[in-house]
Amino acid sequence: MTTPGRLPYPVTLSGDGITLREWRDDDLDELVAMLDEPDIARWTPMPSPFDTEAGIAYLKRARQGRVSGQRIQLVITTDGVKPLGEVLLFGVDAGLREAELGYLVSAQHRRRGLAAGALSLLSAYARSTLKLSRLLLRIDPGNTASTAVARRCGYRLTGEPPILQEGPYGPSSLDTWELVSVGGGSRMERLRNVASRRYGRRG
Ligand SMILES: CC(C)(COP(=O)(O)OP(=O)(O)OC[C@H]1O[C@@H](n2cnc3c(N)ncnc32)[C@H](O)[C@@H]1OP(=O)(O)O)[C@@H](O)C(=O)NCCC(=O)NCCS
Repeated sequence: MTTPGRLPYPVTLSGDGITLREWRDDDLDELVAMLDEPDIARWTPMPSPFDTEAGIAYLKRARQGRVSGQRIQLVITTDGVKPLGEVLLFGVDAGLREAELGYLVSAQHRRRGLAAGALSLLSAYARSTLKLSRLLLRIDPGNTASTAVARRCGYRLTGEPPILQEGPYGPSSLDTWELVSVGGGSRMERLRNVASRRYGRRG
C-alpha cells in the first residue's frame, strides 16, 4: 500500500478484456439502472427500490471510502467507459493481512465472465500489490451465481461457521470462502476447475 493502512487511490486495473476503473459522478444514471434490479436487491445490502437519491448517496459514500483509503470500489468495464458492474475490496485487517471482496454485474451483461474476470483481477492485485494473504468472500449458499463465480476464481469454502443475519427476505446465513489460488493458477487447481465444470459443482 502507498500509505500504511490506506488503500491506493485512484486505481485502474486491466486484463483479459476487462478494465476496472474508479466511479465518476457522471456514472449516476447507469449506476441507478444497474442497481435497481431484483437479484441485486435479493443478494446484496443495496436499498430497493434503488432510485436517483440512493445513487447519489452511493457515489458519495464510494468517493469517501476511496479518498479515506478504507476500500477499493471499482467499476467493471470492457471499454474503460461504460459501467457493466462493480467489484470491491473492503474490511481490510492489516494485522491479519486479510480483506473481503464483493461483486455484482448488470442484469443485461451477466454470463459473459465479467464477474469472474473482475474478481480475478482484483484478487491478483490484492495478493501481489497490497500483499494481502487472506482474501474472503461471504456468500449466501442459495446464491448459485455467486458461488459459481467464487469457484471459478479459485475460492473454496472454509469451515468457518455461517454468519447469521436478518434481512428483508427473513433470516439468512453467509458462508465464508477463501482464495486458494488466483484464477486457479496452479496446475492442480486448473485441473480441478476443469473437472468441476465437466462433472458438476463441488462444495
Ligand atoms: C453473481 C453475479 C455477479 C455473476 O456475474 P456474471 O458476470 O454473470 O458471472 P460470470 O459470467 O463471471 O460467471 C462465472 C461463473 O459463474 C457461472 N454462473 C454465473 N451465473 C450463474 C447462474 N445464475 N447459475 C449458475 N451458474 C452461474 C458461470 O457459468 C461461470 O461458470 P464457469 O466459468 O465455471 O462456467 C451476478 O449474477 C449478479 O450480479 N448477481 C446479483 C448480485 C450478487 O449476487 N452479487 C454477489 C453477492 S455475494
